[in-house]
Parts: sequence; structure tokens; C-alpha cells
Amino acid sequence: MIEIRQEESKDRDAVHHLNVIAFDNGPEAVLVDKLRASCKEYLSLVAVEDGSVIGHILFTPATVDECSAVGMGLAPMSVLPSQQRKGIGSRLVRYGLEFLRNAGCPFVIVLGHPEYYPRFGFELASKYQLRSQWEGVPDDAFMIVVFDSGVLPKTGGIARYRDEFDDAM
Ligand SMILES: CC(C)(COP(=O)(O)OP(=O)(O)OC[C@H]1O[C@@H](n2cnc3c(N)ncnc32)[C@H](O)[C@@H]1OP(=O)(O)O)[C@@H](O)C(=O)NCCC(=O)NCCS
Repeated sequence: MIEIRQEESKDRDAVHHLNVIAFDNGPEAVLVDKLRASCKEYLSLVAVEDGSVIGHILFTPATVDECSAVGMGLAPMSVLPSQQRKGIGSRLVRYGLEFLRNAGCPFVIVLGHPEYYPRFGFELASKYQLRSQWEGVPDDAFMIVVFDSGVLPKTGGIARYRDEFDDAM
């Protein structure tokens, strides 16, 4: 049986290893370690089967310029290649969004595949006149789930992931 739960300190090496494999030695594994060390508040979830970490998702604080409310940015997420396309990634996203909504988080942004994230309630960020901090991000790849639309500036603005992501982009 696969359990979704919050990451514990004993999972950190396994999460690093999973991200190395899932991202084919990309910068994500180190990015996760950096974000954990630098963020006061984050949500890190793991999918565990028979004691092994087979999936991971991270949410770290995200901001919108000229807006005091702080939301979350989803990234990265990973599932062990041999376990992909079995719904584990979907469970991690749904668990995370539900947890954050209940915790009073006003919005969650994601930069990702336009075919994947809308099924979880993500909409185009441009609908709220929000743009990514990075040049050249396609409009349909930058998405948001809004739990409290009252906090967003009516004129929109630039929505930002943590600066640590700049090095990984
Ligand atoms: C993205 C990822 C986490 C999805 O996890 P998963 O457990 O395989 O996802 P689910 O089983 O819940 O959903 C599978 C569905 O997601 C969609 N999907 C998954 N990866 C996708 C991708 N790279 N591009 C487009 N759609 C994708 C497909 O529509 C698939 O549906 P199908 O089963 O009908 O083909 C996993 O593929 C992964 O670890 N990829 C490598 C790391 C990565 O690219 N992470 C995302 C960027 S942070």
C-alpha cells in the first residue's frame, strides 16, 4: 500500500536520491536540499511504499509583487520512473493542495505541463493577470490554484518562486 505523508528528517537522503534519478542528475535534488535549509515554511510530502520513498513533492513560499499575501509554489515533484503513470503524482498533488487549502494558503502557483495540472484545479495564471518572473515562459505553462481570490491584486503582477529557483531554471 502506498502512503502519502509529510517528509520526515529520516527521508531526506531518499528524497535526494529519488530526485537525482527522476530528473536524470538535474539540479532539482540540490535545489530541494537548498530550499529545505532556507525556507522557514514549506510543505514536503513523500509517497512511501514498503518503507521506500517512491514519490516526492515540494511546496515553498511564493509571492506576487505588490501583494502582502504569501502563497506557495509547487516544485519540484518526482516519482520513481518505474512507478510513474500509476497515479502517485496525482495523489501527491491532491494531498498537498488539500493540506494547503485547509491551512489557509491563498494560492498555489505551478510552472508545468499544461495537460497535467488543470485536472487538479489549476487555471492559467494569466486569467488573474499574473506573469512568471522568468522571461519566455509560455502562457499555458504558468498556472495557479486560487483559494482566496481576495488577496490577489486586481491589476495582477509578477508571481515569484523563491530566488533559489533562479539557479535551476
Ligand atoms: C511528472 C511526474 C511527477 C508525474 O508522476 P506520475 O505518478 O507519473 O503521475 P500520474 O500517474 O499521477 O499521472 C500520469 C499522467 O500525467 C500526465 N503526465 C505525466 N507526466 C507528464 C509529462 N511529462 N508531460 C505531460 N503529461 C504528463 C499524463 O497525462 C499521465 O496520464 P496517462 O497515465 O493517461 O498517460 C513523473 O512523471 C515524474 O517524476 N517525471 C520526472 C520529473 C518531472 O518531470 N517532474 C515534473 C516537473 S517538476
